[in-house]
Amino acid sequence: METYDIAVIPGDGIGTEVTSAAMEVLDTVAENHDFQLERSTYDWGTERYLDEGAMMPDDGLDRIESADSIFLGAVGHPEVPDHVTLNGLLLPIRKGFDQYICKRPNKLFEGIESPLRGYGAGDIDLVVYRENTEGEYANVGGREHRGFSNEVAVQSGLFTRKGTERIVRSAFEAATEREGHLTSITKSNAQAHSMVFWDDIVKEVSEDFPEVEVSSLLVDRASMDLVRRPEEFDVVVASNLFGDISTDIAAIITGSLGLAPSGNINEENDYPDMFEPVHGSAPDIVGQGIANPLASVLTGAMMFEYLGDGKEAAADDIWNAVEAQLADESAPRTPDLGGDAKTVDVVSDLSDRL
Ligand code: NAD
Ligand code: IPM
Ligand code: MN
Repeated sequence: METYDIAVIPGDGIGTEVTSAAMEVLDTVAENHDFQLERSTYDWGTERYLDEGAMMPDDGLDRIESADSIFLGAVGHPEVPDHVTLNGLLLPIRKGFDQYICKRPNKLFEGIESPLRGYGAGDIDLVVYRENTEGEYANVGGREHRGFSNEVAVQSGLFTRKGTERIVRSAFEAATEREGHLTSITKSNAQAHSMVFWDDIVKEVSEDFPEVEVSSLLVDRASMDLVRRPEEFDVVVASNLFGDISTDIAAIITGSLGLAPSGNINEENDYPDMFEPVHGSAPDIVGQGIANPLASVLTGAMMFEYLGDGKEAAADDIWNAVEAQLADESAPRTPDLGGDAKTVDVVSDLSDRL
């Protein structure tokens, strides 16, 4: 039987809860489609950091570089500063494997109530292409001079032509396969170097895609329009930080962070891609068994789309089952969606549908 090696990093908090839930669903679907997942699970996370002083071993990336894909739950723990946990695991993987596309689709499904008045099924359907290896997250040249009267901290950003052009081009390509509309989010009124550079590259690349209609929005205005008229967004391209912010907004206007999947992708190199939900470790609900597993489940569907030569049929089964469950008023749903079901109830109902 066709077998795929998956490196699984459940991580912290609800990351572990939603990962085991998702794996149950993925196994069922794989079996239905005559392939299997061979999982290696890595206990990399904050517990390990507290025991051994590092989130992952020094040769962490070497250990997982030959996997077919990586599946991650979430990272972050109230007892350790987030910049330590995230810079010790998640960000080095994205960067180390050069996963320059962070692809985050959001759709308002039937049966889901958007917090936005007047929006119903299908009215919101967008995908964010977030730059994922540089930008405001590059941490180059950053420094602090603390402990004297005029303290100072410097946080730089790094925008390379290669890094900017490749994410912009990928987003244009995506737009040609969707509704043909691309929104680029910047802040070029205030950030005269990086964001003007970005705008210029968008303009250049647009010449290769005359059929794509391009809008350029400042990030403040874009955040408002995601709430005011989200139906106007099709493909969004944004820097690392602005993409991060807009994908939490895109998640909530389509119902919940608990429904938002994400992939960290580079289709040109031989390293594995990494799939993880948009949400974090949610310390406020950890241990209660009420985390919504659907973001992770849909993340698994995205992983299937990028496995080998593509397991689209398996991925479609997952999307369809989730859509059917959400549309069914009598199906279990977790508290983030207004229900009182547990993670396990949602998974077992989904498994029945599959
Ligand atoms: P968060 O995404 O963990 O939670 C935000 C809110 O959404 C919380 O109220 C939470 O309960 C809710 N929520 C999130 N996922 C949910 C789910 N599946 N089901 C139901 N409700 C859900 O964001 P935060 O509170 O800003 O961050 C908590 C920790 O997670 C921090 O340490 C942060 O650094 C980390 N984080 C990690 C990742 C990642 O590993 N990819 C992503 C975001 C945040
Ligand atoms: C995300 C998260 C991460 C990010 C954090 C935890 C570093 O918010 O995946 O959206 O900003 O990329
Ligand atoms: Mn985020």
